[in-house]
Amino acid sequence: MTDLAVVTGGGTGLGRSLAKHLASRGMEVLVVGRRAAPLQETCELAPQQIKAVAADVSSPQGRDAVVAAVGERPVRCLIHNAGVLTPIGPLADVTEQDWSYALSVNVNGPLFLTQALLPQLPGGRVLHMSSGAAHNGYPGWGAYCVSKAALHMLYQVLRDELRERDITVGSLRPGVVDTPMQGLIREQTPDRFPAVQRFVQLHESGQLEDPDEVADFTAWLMLDVPAERYSAEEWSFTDEEHRRQWKQQ
Ligand SMILES: NC(=O)c1ccc[n+]([C@@H]2O[C@H](COP(=O)([O-])OP(=O)(O)OC[C@H]3O[C@@H](n4cnc5c(N)ncnc54)[C@H](OP(=O)(O)O)[C@@H]3O)[C@@H](O)[C@H]2O)c1
Repeated sequence: MTDLAVVTGGGTGLGRSLAKHLASRGMEVLVVGRRAAPLQETCELAPQQIKAVAADVSSPQGRDAVVAAVGERPVRCLIHNAGVLTPIGPLADVTEQDWSYALSVNVNGPLFLTQALLPQLPGGRVLHMSSGAAHNGYPGWGAYCVSKAALHMLYQVLRDELRERDITVGSLRPGVVDTPMQGLIREQTPDRFPAVQRFVQLHESGQLEDPDEVADFTAWLMLDVPAERYSAEEWSFTDEEHRRQWKQQ
């Protein structure tokens, strides 16, 4: 039986590149997202290997749909890549509804999808898609920073709790990657996101990471790095030592 990877947020950006790279490494991939059309485009990159389920990971019904699509099969890789940056703007303005939705996608989704797939995960790996925003506060990104910080702590606790079940949990900061999320960042006005110009400049000077490169690094992490090293610390695509180890493979 071919090994199965589940990639949330697999319809666009980094998730789409990840699905493509894992398929090229011989995996069967289940991509998850709310919109069916982008998921379908991802499937077309490797129709024999990539399948889709349209589901919202923030809701119990959405997670049930993912569990049903996985069925009884073991999951070798569960990549919690789905994420939302919104709501963007000062915390003074944030509504409780928008705040709760961001946390339900970026934190509750990974926790409760991992929980729902526990019977399928022994022998497998879980990856949390982290961010520099987990470790630094950016004005205008309050919900995103808080949710990514919580996701980082979730990685630390789950890593230690799930080790005895032979489930290996890791975390990755992908750098500033050329995806639709970066397009959304550049559209912001400085009153909503004061650091917007820095991201405009990174884009204009060609300094965004290529999602295919980050996906290749991620596939190496998931499939080739020994389990103890994989979960020992948070990985960063921009860390010189981490990149050296990847290039040396
Ligand atoms: N790009 C960067 O510079 C960067 C930097 C650091 C970290 N990251 C992280 O990398 C991950 C991938 O982001 P990206 O840059 O590739 O941006 P992206 O293209 O916006 O990808 C986010 C994906 O998540 C999906 N998604 C959002 N909410 C969902 C939900 N409730 N249920 C299921 N799927 C959902 C979206 O699809 P639907 O809208 O169809 O649901 C979309 O495909 C995110 O976790 C992001 O925080 C990105």
